[in-house]
Amino acid sequence: MKTADIRSTFLEFFRAKDHAIVPSSSLVPASDPTLLFTNSGMVQFKNVFLGSEKLPYARAADVQRCLRAGGKHNDLDQVGYTARHHTFFEMLGNWSFGDYFKREAIAYAWELLTGVFKLPAERLWVTVYQTDDEAYDIWHRQVGVPAERIVRIGDNKGAPYASDNFWQMADTGPCGPCTEIFYDHGPGVAGGPPGSPDEDGDRYIEIWNLVFMQFDRAPDGALSPLPAPCVDTGMGLERLAAVLQHVHSNYEIDLFEHLIRVAGELTGTRDLANKSLRVIADHIRACSFLIVDGVLPSNEGRGYVLRRIIRRALRHGWMLGVRGDFFWKMVAPLVEEMGAAYPELAARQAFVEDALRTEEQRFGETLEHGMRVFDEIAKKAGTIIPGTDAFRLYDTYGFPVDLTADIARERGLSVDMAGFEQAMNEQRERARAAGRFEAKGQMPAELASRLAPTVFLGYEALSAVACKVVGIVRDGRQVEALDDGEEGLVILDRTPFYAESGGQVGDTGVLSHADGRFDVGDTLKMGGVFFGHAGRWQGVALRTGDALDAQVDVARRQATVLNHSATHLLHAALRQVLGEHVAQKGSLVAPERLRFDFSHFKPVSRDELAAVEALVNAEVRRNAPAEVHNMAYDEAIAFGAMALFGEKYGDEVRVLKMGEFSTELCGGTHVERTGDIGLFKIVSEAGVASGVRRIEAVTGAGALAHVAAEERRLAELSHLLSGSGGEVVEKLRQLFDRQKKLERELESLRSKAAGSATADLAGHAREVGGIKVVAARLEGFDAKSLRDSVDQLKQQLGDCVVLLAGVADGRASLVAGVHGAALGRIKAGDVVSHVARQIEGKGGGRADMAQGGGLDTAQLPVLLEALPGWIGEQL
Ligand code: ALA
Repeated sequence: MKTADIRSTFLEFFRAKDHAIVPSSSLVPASDPTLLFTNSGMVQFKNVFLGSEKLPYARAADVQRCLRAGGKHNDLDQVGYTARHHTFFEMLGNWSFGDYFKREAIAYAWELLTGVFKLPAERLWVTVYQTDDEAYDIWHRQVGVPAERIVRIGDNKGAPYASDNFWQMADTGPCGPCTEIFYDHGPGVAGGPPGSPDEDGDRYIEIWNLVFMQFDRAPDGALSPLPAPCVDTGMGLERLAAVLQHVHSNYEIDLFEHLIRVAGELTGTRDLANKSLRVIADHIRACSFLIVDGVLPSNEGRGYVLRRIIRRALRHGWMLGVRGDFFWKMVAPLVEEMGAAYPELAARQAFVEDALRTEEQRFGETLEHGMRVFDEIAKKAGTIIPGTDAFRLYDTYGFPVDLTADIARERGLSVDMAGFEQAMNEQRERARAAGRFEAKGQMPAELASRLAPTVFLGYEALSAVACKVVGIVRDGRQVEALDDGEEGLVILDRTPFYAESGGQVGDTGVLSHADGRFDVGDTLKMGGVFFGHAGRWQGVALRTGDALDAQVDVARRQATVLNHSATHLLHAALRQVLGEHVAQKGSLVAPERLRFDFSHFKPVSRDELAAVEALVNAEVRRNAPAEVHNMAYDEAIAFGAMALFGEKYGDEVRVLKMGEFSTELCGGTHVERTGDIGLFKIVSEAGVASGVRRIEAVTGAGALAHVAAEERRLAELSHLLSGSGGEVVEKLRQLFDRQKKLERELESLRSKAAGSATADLAGHAREVGGIKVVAARLEGFDAKSLRDSVDQLKQQLGDCVVLLAGVADGRASLVAGVHGAALGRIKAGDVVSHVARQIEGKGGGRADMAQGGGLDTAQLPVLLEALPGWIGEQL
């Protein structure tokens, strides 16, 4: 039965039992701050359980899209490693809101599974909550499930009511005991029944959970009864499809078969059982539906979960050898599979593709570099990646820490999470410290009501004498005086200091009189119209009413001015080169550089950047005067001035016009002629949010310093390559060609060596009980070459058991293979774990192929020698 038919059969079954059929809700729960994502079908009914919302029906059924990545229910780490875990999945559910309860819920489930879907009853197991005798009796007496297939599960998660059989949506909210139905995939699959030590295997799979909602959990853990007992059920569509399509993994069902095939084509991977293809197929569903539901990649909250999933998928593509973008191309096949059931997906296909492609291109720029850095870190790290390194990967290369942990896990390493958190906190602390003046910029209301707005002298002057102190603010409160050594905000009646606004940073400098000085570290606007000078007083106490001479740091202001005027030219040039859709989204004008954020959907190409830079520099050379006009707002707009959307302007505005090139509303300080800018150099271009790009650039002396530094770098490079600057590219190309050639030679020597090593080993195989056994150590082989060798040996030997160990960096990798008649007599997973256990390691895998590793390599020779004997005992 196809997945699509399972959806409709389920809904029809419950429609016939008087259930209202309701549509899936969004993955983003409507106004529920306790929950990151919709993680089960009941989320949209939470308030109905709690009694605060009433519905016109008392029974309902639906197919709900769910996400379990981040939050209380998080399966992200398992995806790809088991046959049944997903980030995104679909949940078939039926509900009773104070209508039927345990008896009917169990009877319906049994009827649907055995009567409609025709599952053999003897393959079904059930669990009940330890003390739920009622559910036990219904299963045993009414339905007739034999006692040996009913398992009672108690509080197995370390707290009262923390159990696999006590379900809750989040840390608070509706909850209750549950009964779960399991399907036994048969003895060919590893794993034990629920409640047994091996329950995590893929043999006994939970397919349906029936929750008897009875309580509301408060934040302190206390349970209070719900207004009426309710039923909430959830059945994993993918798991049920696997059962009905007679496959043992969700990833083999019709829907995934298609996605995995396309992922294979896009990544050039022929082995369709490759774990990475499963991860990609899983993640495209999660990412596409998140975007459909309004989430876009970002650095916090839901957007960050999305970003993490996308980047994880991209990294798996990278492992398969992809070096361009590919992931967004999975959207079209997904729409083919799921667009009919979810029309909203089909409708937003182009948008989803665009958003994914943008994120893909952004991360693509750092992924390769980051992977190299990871390799260096891993080489030095031993078994644990230090937290500071994980933080560097996060901060510089955009590797979410769980991505780093995922890569580490594949190599048998772990990440120092506590160390990572600490590095994160230190950065937050630095950011807070940097922003500390802002928090203090509050204007006391009483003071504001008394003072006239500060008069700004700084358009014309950089110094002024005898400015009067009209207010002093300390820790948010007005004070009469600042003593020697005290910090605070000083407000003057007039000042040449520019207060931060419109992206331009506040001025620094000195306020002084004969008996003391105030070093101004920043100037900020307080209450919109008062200029607060932030800094520290030294000298005889400064009092309100004192007169101070003000001197702005001239060099810093002038450098800032060049960057501000250059920002206007950049804005105009971007609109000419990229189009009129370019609008300012943010700007920082500092003495060292300018940063300009603007709307544009894709990265700005190298040619476009060059054109923008050339246009700005042409305007600089034209040396047009910068004219300032004060006029009414409407007049300014008629004058052709560009105003920023969403910005508030007064009635009277200031318009800055530079030649015929740029006319903008602006309250900042500017050059007299464009030629003052000297030189304009773009230093970086990157994306900062979906549809927003950022350019950083330098001007004047900063631009010259930048050019000089680049020249120095080029000189160093040519020195290293012993050529002149002009020859660097050619020399490097030769070097790369040579390296490629050497790598090819090395690869072929390696595979020759591996070939002869395995041929050698095949000759020395021992016969045990009619089976050939090889147990050997191969120096310098990594897990991949070990796997290749095991495969070759299997082909050469036929009925055989092979265990190969490779030692590198003090760690052993183990790979075992079982082939031919040996299959069914011994499992590769058992062979690996037998050896791994004795060398302080672990391992496991399938019956025919398994791998593992360990640390105590000194034991290996003895263990390998003894292995044929041990195998003989197992056969
Ligand atoms: N809400 C229950 C679950 O998700 C049915 O398992």
